[in-house]
Amino acid sequence: MLLSQTAATHAHSMMMASRTSGSFRAAAIWLLATVANAGPAVKVLNGSYEGIHLPQLGQDIFLEIPYAQDTGGENRFRVPQAFNEAWNGTRFAQAYSNACHDFQPDADAAYGMGEDCLSISIVRPIGIPENKTLPVAVWIHGDSYQVGTSGRPNYNLTWLVQRPVAIGKHIVATIDGDIIPNYTTELLHSGRFAHIPHMYGSNSDEGTDNAPTKIFSTDENIYDYLLGSAGYDFPSNVVRKIMALYPDDPAQGIPLNTGDERFAAQSHQYKRPAAIIGDVLYRATRLDDARHYAKHSPTYIYRFNTRPFVNGTNATFTNHVG
Ligand SMILES: *[C@@H]1O[C@H](CO)[C@@H](O)[C@H](O)[C@H]1NC(C)=O
Ligand SMILES: *[C@@H]1O[C@H](CO)[C@@H](O)[C@H](O)[C@H]1NC(C)=O
Ligand SMILES: *[C@@H]1O[C@H](CO)[C@@H](O)[C@H](O)[C@H]1NC(C)=O
Ligand SMILES: *[C@@H]1O[C@H](CO)[C@@H](O)[C@H](O)[C@H]1NC(C)=O
Ligand SMILES: *[C@@H]1O[C@H](CO)[C@@H](O)[C@H](O)[C@H]1NC(C)=O
Ligand SMILES: *[C@@H]1O[C@H](CO)[C@@H](O)[C@H](O)[C@H]1NC(C)=O
Ligand SMILES: *[C@@H]1O[C@H](CO)[C@@H](O)[C@H](O)[C@H]1NC(C)=O
Repeated sequence: MLLSQTAATHAHSMMMASRTSGSFRAAAIWLLATVANAGPAVKVLNGSYEGIHLPQLGQDIFLEIPYAQDTGGENRFRVPQAFNEAWNGTRFAQAYSNACHDFQPDADAAYGMGEDCLSISIVRPIGIPENKTLPVAVWIHGDSYQVGTSGRPNYNLTWLVQRPVAIGKHIVATIDGDIIPNYTTELLHSGRFAHIPHMYGSNSDEGTDNAPTKIFSTDENIYDYLLGSAGYDFPSNVVRKIMALYPDDPAQGIPLNTGDERFAAQSHQYKRPAAIIGDVLYRATRLDDARHYAKHSPTYIYRFNTRPFVNGTNATFTNHVG
């Protein structure tokens, strides 16, 4: 996808979607304190924005440009309504703002949480000649529309643009995008995606990131969880079939290759749902994705088992740092 460097100015018309961030006010104040001059300015369809110039990172950033209306009030429970404001003068895009409401107030609401939370952030390298075209990377951060915000240090994109700057390549990066017009499975199965080379990685122990701890003592616990709490909407016969395919045998469980160890502090049968959940959420979807991609373009799948499983009750779900 090649867009001009001024892609940033067209963010609105591209209608990029997002869940956005808890603001990083402290960071933003620090960043501002390091900037003496006016920030970089861009003109979008209906007005102008001033961002932050970060010479020390070789970046200009525009934080939290709204692409949709407040989702509160009469918009509550409606699909996001397109942003429809026009203004004279310049609005500031210099601080992270609201995270959408979620269940991790500690991590996500430190700098605000609210219904007016749909926006994008744009990071671009500095010093690019006018009209030079740059590839645009669209980053949709993880956390399944349940938690997470674009201000989190692991999602804030500094690293993503910094690396290409460091190796002399340039990209424009934006956080999140409503460039996905239907369920991804619909788009995937009907071939409606960019037919370009594709790489898709996961690691063997993904399930340990999502399997709850301490609740899987018995078969019944696992059945109840998969049927009623996991959110998969599998009927009971499917849950029973899955349980038959994934017996209570720690040697076949996840973390991989840990033999008969049960990691019992997590609960007696923990390795079994960790295997099931990892396959449902990551490995099966990766395979399905890759099969459809491979019909159209070169496709590679890989595992990145770079860190060993941490044998402790801390190394799970809520401690996930991406
Ligand atoms: C621009 O402003 C007009 C008039 O307020 C509005 O109808 C339109 O939706 C706005 N466009 C964008 C992209 O915000
Ligand atoms: C912008 O300023 C012009 C000229 O004063 C005025 O006609 C127009 O209504 C203003 N637009 C907005 C959105 O305030
Ligand atoms: C950039 O492109 C625009 C539109 O094609 C053109 O009007 C302008 O002169 C170009 N600027 C430079 C510096 O080439
Ligand atoms: C992103 O987070 C890192 C690590 O906390 C920080 O150094 C950097 O300034 C942040 N970038 C932005 C754009 O907030
Ligand atoms: C999503 O895909 C389904 C099935 O093809 C279709 O019926 C529906 O209209 C699509 N929705 C949108 C918003 O395109
Ligand atoms: C994991 O930790 C438990 C509790 O500290 C310990 O009993 C067990 O031996 C450890 N297992 C491995 C494979 O390190
Ligand atoms: C687990 O987390 C608790 C609370 O944050 C901390 O006190 C403890 O040291 C951690 N244990 C390990 C093994 O990291």
